[in-house]
Amino acid sequence: MYRKSHRYKRTIKQKNKNDYRCLVNNAKKLSIENLRQQISSYLSYEVDKVDLAQVDKKKFDFNVTFGQILNANQMRDIFELFENNMKSFYDISNSSYDPIEKRAELFHRDSRYLLVNDTTDHIVAYSHFRFDIDFKLPVIYIYEIQVTKAYQNLRLGRQIMIILEHLCQLNKMKKLILTVKKSNVHALKFYYRLDYRKDTSDPNDSDTETEYDYFILSKTI
Ligand SMILES: CC(C)(COP(=O)(O)OP(=O)(O)OC[C@H]1O[C@@H](n2cnc3c(N)ncnc32)[C@H](O)[C@@H]1OP(=O)(O)O)[C@@H](O)C(=O)NCCC(=O)NCCS
Repeated sequence: MYRKSHRYKRTIKQKNKNDYRCLVNNAKKLSIENLRQQISSYLSYEVDKVDLAQVDKKKFDFNVTFGQILNANQMRDIFELFENNMKSFYDISNSSYDPIEKRAELFHRDSRYLLVNDTTDHIVAYSHFRFDIDFKLPVIYIYEIQVTKAYQNLRLGRQIMIILEHLCQLNKMKKLILTVKKSNVHALKFYYRLDYRKDTSDPNDSDTETEYDYFILSKTI
């Protein structure tokens, strides 16, 4: 009896593993057109930007693409926005910053991008994400979310996360997961506000004496 149920459990586990791998492969195979269709109800976003008591209506366009087919201007905008927002966190942390390695990560063949443009045609916010298996589960791994300083606190970040959650649900991924530096207090508050909590894979509560300068957060969908 024991052996039978043991074997049964193992078969179920193997089946789940295969199903999950299949889900991720299918999500990776989605064309840009497929992905665009999936986010078709989120392609534009309007918000009131209040500056010195003056209300300015701002319109943003959302789009989705692959890291490997970004053009040179888009790559430049993405890299600059990353460095403007994040370089100071590397300067104060013990992890070193390697721009060449960062470029390879940003423009990897598995990278998917949610891009936000304003009327100037510049990328003013984006998320770099990937469909992947993480600790045996199909996930959307959020590698980056970046909003240019002038447009922070306009709920653009929240809108990006809503769209990623929508993609997560449509493609049957189990959760969204990300890494955030402990020193990035604003981002931590932002994620917490959106119900992201420490993932089971977060290493901070483990028994080892290693000091980690980041948290792994996730939200199950
Ligand atoms: C973190 C970041 C993506 C947030 O995007 P954003 O557009 O500025 O945030 P939003 O306006 O969408 O805020 C969404 C919610 O989070 C809350 N929030 C955002 N920043 C916050 C802060 N510093 N403190 C407390 N709450 C905060 C907002 O109050 C809002 O809640 P509400 O909608 O209920 O009012 C953006 O500030 C950013 O790009 N920062 C620099 C890059 C970075 O740190 N990226 C994350 C790397 S892990």
